Amino acid sequence: MDLKEIARPIERHLDAFEEVFKKSIRSQIGLVDLVTKYIVKQKGKRVRPVLVLLSAELCGGVNEKSYRGAALVEILHTATLVHDDVVDDADTRRGIASINAVWKNKIAVLMGDYLLAKGLLLSLDHDDFPFLKITSTSVKRMSEGEIHQIQKSRQLDMNEETYLKIIGDKTASLLSTCCEIGAASSSTNEAHHIALAQYGELVGLAFQIRDDLLDYVGRKSITGKPTGLDLSEKKLTLPLIHALSHAPRRESNTILAMVKNGGKKMRVKDVVDFVESNGGIEYSKDRAEQFSAEAKKSICTFADTPSKQSLLAFADYVITRNK
Ligand code: IPE
Ligand code: IPE
Ligand code: MG
Ligand code: MG
Ligand code: MG
Repeated sequence: MDLKEIARPIERHLDAFEEVFKKSIRSQIGLVDLVTKYIVKQKGKRVRPVLVLLSAELCGGVNEKSYRGAALVEILHTATLVHDDVVDDADTRRGIASINAVWKNKIAVLMGDYLLAKGLLLSLDHDDFPFLKITSTSVKRMSEGEIHQIQKSRQLDMNEETYLKIIGDKTASLLSTCCEIGAASSSTNEAHHIALAQYGELVGLAFQIRDDLLDYVGRKSITGKPTGLDLSEKKLTLPLIHALSHAPRRESNTILAMVKNGGKKMRVKDVVDFVESNGGIEYSKDRAEQFSAEAKKSICTFADTPSKQSLLAFADYVITRNK
């Protein structure tokens, strides 16, 4: 199933979400409003709002609160992307110039903060306190994950366990929050909240492993963002981690030295070939598949409904997506 089909059970709610999203980030300040309009115009896949709404539907039905939950997570996600492109020094996002590329880092840093605050205010203004509680943990985890990642790229030592901790924090935490917020918007059943949070965490790990794979083998014209960027930022992700620990010692050392020195000496193609011939691509696909399967298991107790079928299909989508 593609994302459009997956979203079908909650399709009729997407316009309402877009309205809340758009309205919630408006500003009286000309330049702020200009940047938010730029953001609104170039839509992302809306993966996180779809997760909120499907989870809400699964647990009792989408309502006004669910729209605000969906807007909250998409606003936070947008804030992290705006900051992420500064941190990663990326010039392209969603097929167009990134905020930092157009308005420079200063504006991007401040816009990210603005968006974060607007997301929190949306919940505060409607007394959605449970949302704030759930969200705060993932905002903390996202920041820690990003800094942990920088720490590791400076040390240039990484293993799979640390990698999983980092992607759990920087990406899976928010997907988990999406599912939990959706559940919290429509049900008070704690067991449902826990099961969906677990599902979101696992599906989030698979989602980021796929993202890291696409940085190696994806196409910029499809993903809408640069490829090979992780390597040039000395980010050791799963494909390379696996290849480094399975290739002959001398070969691994050569590649590692190349990544370390970076710059012109690093031939990205050589690293990609190294990763491929040492099983890094295949292994990463397998790991993503395993997390996807585990994710499905965590919602096995829910009754069979279209929204459950969609969440199961979403777990397949995250590991096959090219965008
Ligand atoms: C990108 O997320 C950031 C990651 C966690 C990999 P998405 O792939 O959901 O980005 P958009 O919103 O569709 O652009
Ligand atoms: C995603 O990591 C981390 C975020 C939570 C923004 P990436 O740095 O790989 O995300 P992309 O590839 O730029 O979207
Ligand atoms: Mg990035
Ligand atoms: Mg990044
Ligand atoms: Mg990436």
